[in-house]
Amino acid sequence: MINSQTFAALPATVERLQSAHSVVVLSGAGMSAESGVSTFRGKDGSWSRFRPEELASESGFRRNPVLVQSWYQERQRQVVQVAPNAGHDAVARLDALVNDVLVVTQNVDGLHSRAGSRNVIEVHGRLDDNYCIECRSTPGVSLAEASSLPHQCDRCDGLIRPGVVWFGEMLPDGAMERAVEAVTSCDVLISVGTSGVVYPVAGLPGLARQSGAYTIEVNIEPSALQDVMDDSLIGPSGVVLPELFRAVFPNY
Ligand code: OAD
Repeated sequence: MINSQTFAALPATVERLQSAHSVVVLSGAGMSAESGVSTFRGKDGSWSRFRPEELASESGFRRNPVLVQSWYQERQRQVVQVAPNAGHDAVARLDALVNDVLVVTQNVDGLHSRAGSRNVIEVHGRLDDNYCIECRSTPGVSLAEASSLPHQCDRCDGLIRPGVVWFGEMLPDGAMERAVEAVTSCDVLISVGTSGVVYPVAGLPGLARQSGAYTIEVNIEPSALQDVMDDSLIGPSGVVLPELFRAVFPNY
């Protein structure tokens, strides 16, 4: 069990975070697990029940738009029902404790911003952005609100898709460039709840460490990133992050 004694045994973690001027938090699906949003990998993950090439690619969408729209419709409806958890809240409170904080998230649920984090790069887009696959305009009615599927564009009848990045697609303009700039100049990178297998984002912790940052992982189990981590804190992010920040910042 993680508690303040755990951090007493990790003086470098405490010291590096205490003296940090800039911190990057890199988050993945595990960060939102305690809010009730499913992760992708692992036995209960979405990709153990569904095929990513069917649900997260443009070719899969064109082959079966109703299936894909209904999956994202359900997810869009779900994220408005859930709330940020103690892990998101802890990250948001960092803004008041460290000069320069950037959250780079692979999550499309918007929960970091809803928790109050001010600088967030959503490298895999946003679930609640909707646009027409043909003319790229934003529909008057979102997928979440659509009463029948397929949901089509009011202007050109094209299919409406969610604004998430699918396999084989480019990341949002400038997102990776800003993330690379931040990780190569930060003092500490905290990777939270990501399996660390989807590139280019999975390359960011290694890049941070090569550039001199102290790297900390928070995960319920060691991830593919463990070799580039200075410390691995094992436990749920909603528990570990508040404990960590309480141990580091007297005014947390
Ligand atoms: P994954 O589902 O691959 O990994 C989730 C990670 O969170 C795992 O390492 C879990 O051990 C960990 N985890 C689960 N619950 C946790 C908790 N309460 N606290 C801390 N850690 C926990 O999700 P991502 O790494 O985010 O891409 O996946 C990366 C990308 O793959 C996603 O953005 C998505 C997916 O295909 C796109 O949609 C483009």
